[in-house]
Formats: sequence, C-alpha cells, structure tokens
Amino acid sequence: MPQSVRGVVARTKGEPVTTLTIVVPDPGPGEVVVAVRACGVCHTDLHYRDGGINDDFPFLLGHEAAGTVESVGEGVTHVAVDDAVVLNWRAVCGECRACRRGRPWYCFDTHNAAQAMTLEDGTPLTPALGIGAFADKTLVHELQCTKVDPDADPAAAGLIGCGVMAGWGAAVNTAPVRVGDTVAVIGCGGVGDAAVAGALFAGARQVIAVDTDATKLEWATGFGATHTVDAGSEDVVARLRELTGGFGPDIVIDAVGTPATFRQAFDARDLAGTVVLVGVPNPEAVLEIPLIEVFGHGGATKSSWYGDCLPERDFPLLVELWQAGRFPLDRFVTERVALDEVEQAFTTMQDGGVLRSVVMIDGASS
Ligand SMILES: NC(=O)c1ccc[n+]([C@@H]2O[C@H](COP(=O)([O-])OP(=O)(O)OC[C@H]3O[C@@H](n4cnc5c(N)ncnc54)[C@H](O)[C@@H]3O)[C@@H](O)[C@H]2O)c1
Ligand SMILES: [Zn+2]
Ligand SMILES: [Zn+2]
Repeated sequence: MPQSVRGVVARTKGEPVTTLTIVVPDPGPGEVVVAVRACGVCHTDLHYRDGGINDDFPFLLGHEAAGTVESVGEGVTHVAVDDAVVLNWRAVCGECRACRRGRPWYCFDTHNAAQAMTLEDGTPLTPALGIGAFADKTLVHELQCTKVDPDADPAAAGLIGCGVMAGWGAAVNTAPVRVGDTVAVIGCGGVGDAAVAGALFAGARQVIAVDTDATKLEWATGFGATHTVDAGSEDVVARLRELTGGFGPDIVIDAVGTPATFRQAFDARDLAGTVVLVGVPNPEAVLEIPLIEVFGHGGATKSSWYGDCLPERDFPLLVELWQAGRFPLDRFVTERVALDEVEQAFTTMQDGGVLRSVVMIDGASS
C-alpha cells in the first residue's frame, strides 16, 4: 500500500517551503523505501527553492540523509530491511561512457527510483538530487543506499551524503591536495570546512580559511585551518599571496560559487596552481576573464561535483575516520530541528548561524 507521510515541498520559485502530505509508493523492482532518521539542510536545498537548479517544481527537498531501510522491492540485493544507510546521489550505472572508461565518479546516468512520489492529488514531486529526504519516508534506488555502522549518530552520518563529502572530496579527490601543498578555501560553511579538514588530512602544509563571517573563520580554525582571511575587510588575493611567501596557494577551493569568489581563486593561486569550483553558481552568473590570463597563469580550473566521490568507497571511510577520532564529523551538526522548521533553517543558514541544521525525524534519537 502506498503510504501518506509528511514531506517538505517547495511549490513555487522563491516562496517559503511547506510541510505537506506526500504519497510514497511501495518499492518497485530495484527500489527501496527508507525511513528517514535525519537530514541536513544544505545550501543546495535553498538553491532548489529559489529556482537556481531547474524549474521542475514542486520539489521534495532534502538530500543529506541517514535512515533505516523499511521495505525493499523485487530483486533488491544491495541492502536489506533494517539496514542503517546513508543516502547518496551518485548510484553509478557501470555502463555509461564515463563508467566504461574507469571513471565512475563522473557517471552520466546515475540510478534513481523509477516511480514518482506525489502530492495527495497525484502531482509528481521532483526529489532534490533524486533523494527528497525532508520526509518521514522516501523512495530511492537500492544503489542510492550505502550501508554504514548502525551505531553512528544519524544526524552526523547523514551529512556525508552531500555537503561534507562534496567539500572533503573537492580537496582530496578533485584537486587533489598532495603532501606539502598550500591550500585556501573560500567560503567556510559546511562544504568549505569539510574541504579544510580534507586538505589537512591529505597533508597540506597550510590551509587558509577565507570567509566574510568571523564566526565561520573561528569554526574553520577548529577544523584545522592554519590561517584565516576576513573577506569582508581584507583584500583576499593580496592576503593569500602574502600568507604563501608572495606566490599564492597551490590550490584554491571556491566553496561559494560566485564570479567574484571564482575570480579571487583564479587570481590568487600560484602559477600552474589549481582552482576547484565546488560552490554552485546561480544560472545567471557570468564570468569574464581575458583568455591570455587563462593561458598565462597555467595550471587547471576544475569543477567538483560531489567531491568526485564514490559513495561505496568513501562513505564508510569517512564514518571510520570519524569513529577513530581522525575526522570531527559531528562538529558539522550545529543544531537539530524538526521537519516543519526547514524554512527557519534556511534563514539561519543565510544569517550565518550554522554549519548545518539537521532535521531529526520523530522517533530518531537526538
Ligand atoms: N559541488 C557539489 O557537489 C556541492 C554539494 C553541496 C553543496 N554545494 C554548494 O556549495 C556551496 C556551499 O554550501 P554550504 O552548504 O557550505 O553553504 P553555507 O551557506 O553553509 O556556506 C557558505 C559560506 O560562504 C561564505 N561566504 C559567502 N559569500 C562569501 C564571500 N564573498 N567570500 C567568502 N565567503 C563567503 C558564507 O559566510 C558561508 O560561511 C553552495 O553553493 C552549495 O550549493 C555543492
Ligand atoms: Zn555510469
Ligand atoms: Zn547538498
């Protein structure tokens, strides 16, 4: 029987989100219904609400989630009922041209549930990043579930499902940071601080945190940043050069995603240095750079989707590092909120008060 549960829906561009009754079908072949336990509020959810990703409203928001497998459809072997899982938006197909060439982290045809979750009147919902987990329950493809230690706090574990993985992976996989590199991270929210921690873990000699918000800079220091730059009052490019012997960092990670921050990253890095764009630009953003500077500066500009991660490889690794005290995953959880507080959490995010608000679903431990 299809189930009616609560879900947080963005119906119209820019309008506040609302908690509505949504209908979750029984899992079909290869599908799984997951009882959500916790789901982080990522800036990308806000981009969806504001029409910055696409116009496929209504959206069922939420995509940084941990939960428990409730039921499985025909032929499901990857997970079983009662497994503790973190949801992912990169269930690789194994068959597209990227997968066939041995680069599955670029998979161009990732798996999602085939059936739609709907509003009560039958209107199909577009789940954010193919997940839609600001809900009591959600329907996903079996390969969107990565099994993790059931003892891991779901509020923290769920964050690996997007922002933390994206930031960590931008440093460790996309850049990639090597021992002795100097690294700067522009924008130290959940994604940026994970990049700070990843860069440190990968052996960076210097990790410079850049933000407009003093509290964010303090938190970034807690994740291992060796220096900070206040982008509100300092000349970012000049300071980054000054802090790196006059040359600029080897790698600059832009975890904001505006033309202005990208330009800072592009200009500040050392000759032959690398820019990694992990912040998501809005569709109107246009960048103008003299081509001679692209040529003359050398190096690389890269985009990082989901930190070029492979969930089955990387999620259990991050949980293990966390449990071993080598990666402070739980420190990304600033506050725990209820399902009907997502709109408020967007405001808190914009005000700079959190790394992550995490929605706890009733009945989950908090
Ligand atoms: N590429 C991916 O796969 C991926 C995954 C998740 C999130 N994202 C994107 O990453 C970005 C960051 O996400 P988040 O959840 O950490 O957001 P967030 O809102 O928590 O953090 C953004 C940070 O940037 C800072 N900031 C804003 N303008 C700045 C400026 N001009 N200079 C320096 N700092 C500035 C803010 O103070 C804040 O600390 C968003 O665009 C989000 O959509 C990308
Ligand atoms: Zn593929
Ligand atoms: Zn996200």
